[in-house]
Amino acid sequence: MSNPVLSVRDLVVEIPTRNGILRPVDNVSYDIAAGEILGVVGESGAGKSMTGNAVIGLLDPPARIASGEVLLDGKPIQGLKGEALRRLRGKKMGMIFQDPLTSLNPLLTVGEQLEETILEHLPISAAEARKRAVEALEEVGIPAAAQRIGSYPHEFSGGMRQRVVIALALCAEPDLVIADEPTTALDVSVQAQIVALLKRLCRERGVAVMLVTHDMGVIAEAADRVAVMYAGRLAELGPVRDVLTNARHPYTAGLMGSTPLASQGQRRLRQIPGAMPRLGALPQGCAFHPRCDRAEDRCRAEPGPTISACDGRAACWFPLGYPQEATG
Ligand SMILES: Nc1ncnc2c1ncn2[C@@H]1O[C@H](COP(=O)(O)OP(=O)(O)OP(=O)(O)O)[C@@H](O)[C@H]1O
Ligand SMILES: [Mg+2]
Repeated sequence: MSNPVLSVRDLVVEIPTRNGILRPVDNVSYDIAAGEILGVVGESGAGKSMTGNAVIGLLDPPARIASGEVLLDGKPIQGLKGEALRRLRGKKMGMIFQDPLTSLNPLLTVGEQLEETILEHLPISAAEARKRAVEALEEVGIPAAAQRIGSYPHEFSGGMRQRVVIALALCAEPDLVIADEPTTALDVSVQAQIVALLKRLCRERGVAVMLVTHDMGVIAEAADRVAVMYAGRLAELGPVRDVLTNARHPYTAGLMGSTPLASQGQRRLRQIPGAMPRLGALPQGCAFHPRCDRAEDRCRAEPGPTISACDGRAACWFPLGYPQEATG
């Protein structure tokens, strides 16, 4: 990949607790290129949001980056604090969360919020910012944008509000957008529209996107590559078609079911028997081994290999279909 927008290298997030140190993110590495959407999936508690929050510098203390690197356009950002980080967050990184209301100020009109963000990050006049704000709303499909710009967040429907959040995330022309379950809180009928919008805008503008979701339909529709997380680690990372139709990690295979994607009616991840272990009680060896029907002695003794250290796809000692079971 030539010059990724985002490079995460051996990222470790730790939370000190009375009973020891927890690692909600353990040795995670991935890149996202301009115009590329990386989908991130995994069961609840797998570390998806923690990874995203670490990247944008929004970890809630006492969680902290213990080691590793986060490079944005080749420059490390994990040491930045306060004002420097805040500026970077608005200008270079946009954020979209599950609940649009958390990203919007209820006391300001959407126009005021857009203009404020635009003026803070782009060297343009107030009049120009106002014009841009209207254009930004038009671009995300808000009808009668010139009038709606004076409305407050609560005056929009959930779907329209999430469109406003997308406009706000993109209005300072960021290089990276972190979208954490952006459609989960919305009606099913609106979800696909929001995903399509996000995908189109990111493609057009060459924005790198980390898209966290539980919805396999969203992954299949929008993502170029997919990262599967389990107990804080990357279980599998690869092109979306390959991962969805030819999972190599037994955990991914369990999530996807064994049927090919095309004939798959399901949108949600499948339930796998058992539960993901708590961070404070991770089993020895590969964290997935108690739920894995392929587990052997090695899996019970050693953590799975990191993806960069093995076949580049699955953090597994005995991946499916590779290399022994390769079908060509
Ligand atoms: N302050 C804390 N103290 C201890 N553990 C925490 C704390 N905050 C988060 N965790 C743990 O960190 C892990 C990762 O959480 P994270 O929110 O990243 O999961 P997630 O993959 O985004 O899940 P979901 O799909 O439910 O959003 C979870 O196991 C969670 O219990
Ligand atoms: Mg989450």
